[in-house]
Amino acid sequence: MASRSRTRVYNSWWSYRADCWSRLEEAVNRVVVAQRRDSPIDGLVEPIMEQCTALVPIEQFWAFPGPELFARVQELAASADYPRLLHLVASINRALVTESYRHGSMALRDNQEASEDDLPELEHSDSDRPYFEVLVVDTLTPEQEHDLREEMRSWRRADDKFVYELVVVGSGPEALVAMRLNANIQACVIRRRFSHGSLHDLTDLDEFIDPDLSAELADHTPDERAQILARRMARERPEVDLYLMTEVGVEEMAGRLSHHFRRVFHAREGSLDLHQSILAGVMHRYRTPFFDALRAYAHRPTGAFHALPISQGKSIVGTHWIRDMVGFYGLDIFLAETSATGGGLDSLLEPTGPLRDAQDCAAETFGSRQTFFVTNGTSTANKIVAQALVGPGDIVLVDRNCHQSHHYGLMLAGAQVSYLDAYPLNEFAMYGAVPIREIKQRLLDLRAAGKLDRVRLLMLTNCTFDGVVYDVGRVMEECLAIKPDLVFLWDEAWWAFARFHPIYRPRTGMRAARTLVEKLRTPEYRAAYEEWDQTERSDRELVEDRLMPDPDTTRVRVYSTQSTHKTLTSLRQGSMIHVHDQDFAQKSREAFHEAYMAHTSTSPNYQILASLDLGRRQAALEGFELVQRQLESAMRLRDAIDNHPLLSKYMHCLSTAEMIPDEYRESHLAHPLRSGLHNMIRAWSTDEFVMDPTRISLYIGLTGIDGATFKQAELMDRFNIQINKTSRNTVLFMTNIGTSRSSVAYLIEVLVSIVREIDERKSEASRAETIVFERAVARLTNAAAPLPDFSGFHEAFRDPSEHPTPEGDVRRAFFLSYDDTNCEYLLQAEAEAKLAAGGTIVSATYVTPYPPGFPVLVPGQVFSTAILEYMGALDTPEVHGYNPVVGYRVYTDAAVEIAMADRARLYAGSEQ
Ligand SMILES: Cc1ncc(COP(=O)(O)O)c(C=O)c1O
Repeated sequence: MASRSRTRVYNSWWSYRADCWSRLEEAVNRVVVAQRRDSPIDGLVEPIMEQCTALVPIEQFWAFPGPELFARVQELAASADYPRLLHLVASINRALVTESYRHGSMALRDNQEASEDDLPELEHSDSDRPYFEVLVVDTLTPEQEHDLREEMRSWRRADDKFVYELVVVGSGPEALVAMRLNANIQACVIRRRFSHGSLHDLTDLDEFIDPDLSAELADHTPDERAQILARRMARERPEVDLYLMTEVGVEEMAGRLSHHFRRVFHAREGSLDLHQSILAGVMHRYRTPFFDALRAYAHRPTGAFHALPISQGKSIVGTHWIRDMVGFYGLDIFLAETSATGGGLDSLLEPTGPLRDAQDCAAETFGSRQTFFVTNGTSTANKIVAQALVGPGDIVLVDRNCHQSHHYGLMLAGAQVSYLDAYPLNEFAMYGAVPIREIKQRLLDLRAAGKLDRVRLLMLTNCTFDGVVYDVGRVMEECLAIKPDLVFLWDEAWWAFARFHPIYRPRTGMRAARTLVEKLRTPEYRAAYEEWDQTERSDRELVEDRLMPDPDTTRVRVYSTQSTHKTLTSLRQGSMIHVHDQDFAQKSREAFHEAYMAHTSTSPNYQILASLDLGRRQAALEGFELVQRQLESAMRLRDAIDNHPLLSKYMHCLSTAEMIPDEYRESHLAHPLRSGLHNMIRAWSTDEFVMDPTRISLYIGLTGIDGATFKQAELMDRFNIQINKTSRNTVLFMTNIGTSRSSVAYLIEVLVSIVREIDERKSEASRAETIVFERAVARLTNAAAPLPDFSGFHEAFRDPSEHPTPEGDVRRAFFLSYDDTNCEYLLQAEAEAKLAAGGTIVSATYVTPYPPGFPVLVPGQVFSTAILEYMGALDTPEVHGYNPVVGYRVYTDAAVEIAMADRARLYAGSEQ
């Protein structure tokens, strides 16, 4: 019974475990109260045994309360000593709930026959040192395990920066389960004698068991087993430090160790060394070079004969009129304000000290080869990357539904832009993502036109605003099979957290790049490629087939931009650029530096930089836990909405099946995570697109309230709930690593009260009111005008080659409007009439309705009937680049002629 309900907790064993301990305490308490009243306890004892049994398979994976205390709990339960059991369970539970076990220890006294008062209490230490757990994988007797704990504890020193306890498991499969369940684990010591098969009954935990691991381990020598286990663990939790302890030739082992191990120790010599290495390993992730330098600088007395009067609080400590500024922010933030780049600080534009160090730490944490901090958001990060990689005339493939920073970045770089269309979700007035077939077809068309050598970059947003996630590795492999030096920019503005969860990680740009580099180097891949390459394929077949890149010519060149501030901890505008580019040194370093200089302030904000450094530390040490909790919160929210009798009458969370058409889901799973963790893993490893469950599009068409009104009038004005994106019949709720169970509960409460009002109004409505409501619902639930595809650039902005392909010169199209006489305004009706009369209309600007927030028109783009129909039916209040009073800003026919003449001049040489 228990195991059935557990699969519904979405990997949430820590909350399941916490609930078990609380339920156990309640159950024991009921018995004790009954005993005190001399009431019968029949039927009250069973729940105690049930909770104890439920805890048995999972307690081994946590250091607290640990095997000895837990054994004592079981003994007291078995001997029906309920008062003492209550005392013990309550102490353990309190320590777990308040997390006080992190700051003290609890041990059994020797005299187990003594009175209640002699049961263990948590002994608090004064120290506030961070606490973690170390997994030891070895078959040990209980006595050996006890001695090992004591031995490792004996090395503790008062000035250690951290304190840790051990979790001991005896087998490879259990070690992997521990890694998946226990987020406190920061280091793991693998000893050679661990067993390949599980030593306990893990049936209840089958969701977390790797089905092949046991068999794989069985066929190998102890050394090989250790390597296999290390590889698996590194795949799950790459941040965890792995150590090997062996009794045989350490010197020889050290030379053969996989890079996954930090160090190898001799079992008999190594325990002090091991202790120090464990602390040093965690310290390596804990250190925040730039934050530390800034803090040290802030406390030094300085005299500033330079700019920045606010520096060190100088202009505000004696203020009469802006004291509230200091009161609100506190003095420290001003003490840390400085324009100095020396004195222990560093220059962002040419970092050689703590900033460089901090960026190197970030590269390690985010799995890149280089990482660069950006203090003006991913808007700037995207422009830096575009400018670094793209020269005038280079062709760039980009999802038209991308963030505006790409449009502007490509315009500034002078790119020839080839817009790709994502699949539309007309019913919800939003877009999905760009199918791989569309991308390959575009590349093949460019190849047929003889322009492949000019194609430089593919830019895609992963995940999309609405949570659609690409198969990043597949996209890169298939594109590189057509164009082996194509560069990729993955806009991961919303995806920085993905690195820290094993299910998400393979679909991030940096991990996919590394996996691809490793894969291309293997002999197995080469053999498979050579066989695949035997077959001649037509373009049509190349679009349909799964393509394989040539291991000899392919260069893996991948960039990711991330708004750290959107999904991890950082002050607003804190972003990072991650690079995994095999040709960075030869081809991009200089250009990247120039682009970075072009877009970066010479006075970057130190607080943002320090917060990036700290956000990185947090992600490296607790990213896994935070993301897992976020996932759980999101699933709780989804379940609470979809299972609520009243809410589900009017709204539901869009499922994967509604957001991603079946043709893109090989698994055909409509609700991957809801149908079990194994299914989620399957979908995430096979499907062209998957949904990030932490982003929840709530369909509200049946409420009769449109998305924009729901957001502002209902959620914001009445209940102070902020959301960002809406469509005509959906609102998007994004959970993040700060989303708490209470905030989920508050949102549910709010939704219930909104829906209850609607329901009451409906039941009491007059005939006329009912008609109004039904019309509103019909308007929101019937398909609106379909989302228009990209209509194309006017030929004046395309190259006049014999083989026309759709890319356009956005820079020329943009700057033509700087001469106002080139532009005129057309009202919707006038534009419709002009098109109907066979005229051509060319946009002079970006027109972006919000929602959905993508440009329906870009400079140089021709108007189409579909676009005008869409705009005519649009009921969103905000349309950037369009003023309904004066109409669309478009190019005059004369201006288009000028552009045609310019084109003729520009391409005169190439036409000859
Ligand atoms: C896909 C995408 N890329 C880039 C950005 C810009 O990020 P930032 O706000 O960090 O400048 C956004 C902002 O919403 C975005 O949605």
